Amino acid sequence: MPERLLLTNEETRIALYSEANQPIVPHSVTADTLLESLNLNWREKDLPEKQRTKHVHRLHPYLGKFAPQLVEVFLRKYFAPGQTILDPFCGSGTTLVQANELGIAALGYDIAAFNVLLTRAKVTHYLLEDLCKEVRDILGKLRAKTQQPSSQLSFWELSFGDKLQETDNSYLQQWYAPQALHELLTYRNLLETEGYHYQDLLKVILARSARSARLTTLFDLDFPQKPQRKPYWCYKHSRECIPTTEALKFLERYSADTLQRVKEFAVCRTAQTILVQHADSREVAFPLVHDVDQAR
Ligand SMILES: C[S@@+](CC[C@H](N)C(=O)[O-])C[C@H]1O[C@@H](n2cnc3c(N)ncnc32)[C@H](O)[C@@H]1O
Repeated sequence: MPERLLLTNEETRIALYSEANQPIVPHSVTADTLLESLNLNWREKDLPEKQRTKHVHRLHPYLGKFAPQLVEVFLRKYFAPGQTILDPFCGSGTTLVQANELGIAALGYDIAAFNVLLTRAKVTHYLLEDLCKEVRDILGKLRAKTQQPSSQLSFWELSFGDKLQETDNSYLQQWYAPQALHELLTYRNLLETEGYHYQDLLKVILARSARSARLTTLFDLDFPQKPQRKPYWCYKHSRECIPTTEALKFLERYSADTLQRVKEFAVCRTAQTILVQHADSREVAFPLVHDVDQAR
């Protein structure tokens, strides 16, 4: 009996990855690459975070995301440029973006409105000059409305317990310092009233900033349990830190980062179509997609 049959699945995997074969280089995969030869066990040094989160893949954190390189491997193996891929659970759009890079048309559905918004923001064709103007315009207006001494709310330590302005939403009141909330709500208000063309992308910048500006410890950003309202010992910085009291710095940082990422994707995207629909895939009559080689 071959030795491998005596091993558990996990032991087999460990044995496979311990052998001499190196993790696959995604762009080396072709239709002829054997599935059995694929070692997808990338280590950080094989596939650093910067590559896994390249261009629009990191417009917003998304916990259940594929590494785009994993998708790339299978698209290269099973699809050819000009064909169409359908992703009925497209999430943050990783498959759609990767397919487009390879010249494959893509059709995605998701039941969650935010995921559809995020995917659309990633795949929209932007007129970059107009986009830059809008991103700068809203930030300028935001600063004008929130940064004069008279419009700034008092320091967070002094402000808790004050009646928060502009919202009676208890979640927002609990999770944001007054100045941060003031800035986020003002940005949202500008977004709703100024008639910007690229609203989806501005909403993504707002959502990303709102996530970072919550009253939470730095090390608990993914799963904060309760609002952190007092200074705390931060083991990341080995010093006492205070939770953030403002949102403007995040809005500024993520605006610049978003523009950069959209510009990077503009360089490598192809002219293939990408369509994203907000729908429950259990009820969608999917269009028939031809020219996919099912034999492979
Ligand atoms: C794990 S995520 C996919 C993530 C994606 N592969 C990525 O890299 O971003 C699964 C997605 O399926 C969506 N979903 C679950 N049930 C669905 C349904 N019935 N119709 C459409 N989408 C659904 C969820 O909203 C979620 O975004």
